[in-house]
Amino acid sequence: MTGLAARAVAILETAEPAAKARLARAVAAAWRGDEIAEVGQATPPARPARPEQPALKRPGELPKRKINRGTAGRGALLHALAHIELNAIDLAADIVARFSSDDLPRGFYDDWLTVAEEEGKHYLLLAERLGQLGLAYGDLPAHDGLWQAAEETAHDLLARLAVVPLVLEARGLDVTPVMIDKLQAVDDHDSAAVLEVIYRDEIGHVAIGKRWFDFLCLRRGLDAQETWQALVRRHFKGQLKRPFNDDARRQAGFPADFYAELASD
Ligand SMILES: [Fe+2]
Ligand SMILES: [Fe+2]
Repeated sequence: MTGLAARAVAILETAEPAAKARLARAVAAAWRGDEIAEVGQATPPARPARPEQPALKRPGELPKRKINRGTAGRGALLHALAHIELNAIDLAADIVARFSSDDLPRGFYDDWLTVAEEEGKHYLLLAERLGQLGLAYGDLPAHDGLWQAAEETAHDLLARLAVVPLVLEARGLDVTPVMIDKLQAVDDHDSAAVLEVIYRDEIGHVAIGKRWFDFLCLRRGLDAQETWQALVRRHFKGQLKRPFNDDARRQAGFPADFYAELASD
């Protein structure tokens, strides 16, 4: 029987996006159903498998995402979000496989499989909504830099948790309500409803990131706040941007003391 780490590698090695998303959901269900006997160990690829389309470009070369009644801007927005969710599936699979020698409790795997499953759901919801707008994932170019954070933090689970859930996914909590409001304002309630699902789930992902960040700090005898700030300064190239969604971050157990002093205005 194949262990969990090897199955996570299989997710990473699946190129077709809907198949990747469905496999992530199936692996999570199998894990929850006690069909996978052990975590085992496996080496994830340096980069996940991807389809031939979309072409990957620098952010400046991507289509504008102005949200109005026309479908072009909303399509570009949903396409960009689908690309982010596809990366998020791989990030969750990577965290399961890459750190499988770190002696982590079963709860760690329970949590990251929940994340993988929900990222798969997010991708499929966005792909479905794109289809209703006459588009498919791959029709537009996409951001080429999303795997950088994974490479930058591949050496250490604590660094990975500091940056991926607690900078990147936390940033999603700041910007998603604004997008939902803009979609509602142009009566795109179907797209707004998809983003509502994502927003609620992502509060949970930040909470999971924080829980395991704290767990590792305790195990290593480190101060969580100082350690997080030092790791973000070292491994995150950008600046943390205001305004923060302090309410959602607090719901995720991530207080402003951690991030406020690292922010640019
Ligand atoms: Fe997501
Ligand atoms: Fe997420």
